[in-house]
Amino acid sequence: MSRGLKKSFELLEKSRKLIPSLTQTFSRAAYTFVEGAFPVYAASAKGSHFTDVDGNEYIDYLCGLGPVILGHAYEKVDIAIKKQLKKGIIFSLPHKLEIDLSELLCEIIPCSEMVKFSKTGSGAATGAVRGARAITKRDKIAYCGSGGVWHDWYAAIISRNQGVPEFNRDLIYTFDYNDIDGLEYIFEKNPNEIACVFMEPTIFEKPTNSFLQKVKKITKQNDTILIFDEIVTGFRLANGGAQEYFGVEPDITVLGKGMANGMPLSAVVGKTEYMKIFDDVFFSTTYAGETLSLAASHATITEFKEKPVIKKMWENGNMLIDEFNNIAKEQALEIALTGYPVRMRLVCKDTNGNDSILMKSLLIQEMVKRGIFMHPGVEYISFSHDQEDIKKTIDSFADAILIIKKAINENNFESYLKGNPIKPVYTVIKPSEKANPTK
Ligand SMILES: Cc1ncc(COP(=O)(O)O)c(C=O)c1O
Repeated sequence: MSRGLKKSFELLEKSRKLIPSLTQTFSRAAYTFVEGAFPVYAASAKGSHFTDVDGNEYIDYLCGLGPVILGHAYEKVDIAIKKQLKKGIIFSLPHKLEIDLSELLCEIIPCSEMVKFSKTGSGAATGAVRGARAITKRDKIAYCGSGGVWHDWYAAIISRNQGVPEFNRDLIYTFDYNDIDGLEYIFEKNPNEIACVFMEPTIFEKPTNSFLQKVKKITKQNDTILIFDEIVTGFRLANGGAQEYFGVEPDITVLGKGMANGMPLSAVVGKTEYMKIFDDVFFSTTYAGETLSLAASHATITEFKEKPVIKKMWENGNMLIDEFNNIAKEQALEIALTGYPVRMRLVCKDTNGNDSILMKSLLIQEMVKRGIFMHPGVEYISFSHDQEDIKKTIDSFADAILIIKKAINENNFESYLKGNPIKPVYTVIKPSEKANPTK
């Protein structure tokens, strides 16, 4: 039974005076959910569930924006952190854990021969791009991905780009997933100028027509570095990430999120011939070798090796997708979970086939009321989600969809929506004609 959201809203009011944008991470801000109908502050979490400050419990399909891959407060990881905590957090010299974890990563990630740690995905991505620029002595980047990299080189091409020097925009050329012609065009127009192809090996769409193999071939032909952003796909698609799943090895990979089950850690890994550049390239930060995160990551990856983590996540995700999509079909509504069972996208379309913000807002509102916390864009599953969670989610969806039907039949979403419709964090702005002639 709901205990209301009073404390959440009180804290939200306090934060308006103290915290710009109300949060440290835009994607967690109240306005990215249905503000007014959604909890705003979390208090604690265990396994696949979290509890908000008012004491309401939810099945968590955002998993801390992706990093919580084994589950919240996962015992083996927490024990490793506590054990290390007793010995110290960060030292005046490197710590052996840097070597132990690097060995583990080289064992499990196909392209990994050397490892450089950092703290955020954006930091690792920026380090990798800097490395590629240094290796090739070129500045331009061909990019394909969902974003999420907040440092200047990518932030230049999104709507929230204030403060980012404009020249960065002229250095990024975007291409669409599965659009090999688009990538070829970029190389044709910028001969010997592209430092790297930086891409997510997959987002929600599956590669077709040997797309990834062709990308790799083009990078080789042009002496360009292929960087996979596996910050989300790493430790999700397979133990060795998308490169293992699809059998295509990049030159360099960036990892983050799931690698330490929520502790702040990221890494650039890759072939020795490329990674050696970091002997000289300035990619260095005080906290990169902080040992609680390294210990957490070591315990997390060991669990991946010892338990069928990936298998269970795929199975439960598949069950969720199948049953969820069946219910939507029965109700003849264009609502679906698409993508991969381990990284799903929630799609809600109106009768004209257009994305419906109102329908999606109402759906996630009705789900959260029933104790199911869903994100408007992406849903993650963890090793701790079990069949009971899936069943409860399905039962809740079967209920919630009836409200959506009513709203559609009455052509009146507004009266059912108890808060503001969801707002995107940013949109990708079209790079200038000069910067991106393919668009
Ligand atoms: C694909 C991808 N790359 C990079 C990042 C950046 O990671 P971080 O937020 O840790 O800087 C994100 C974050 O959402 C992401 O989804």
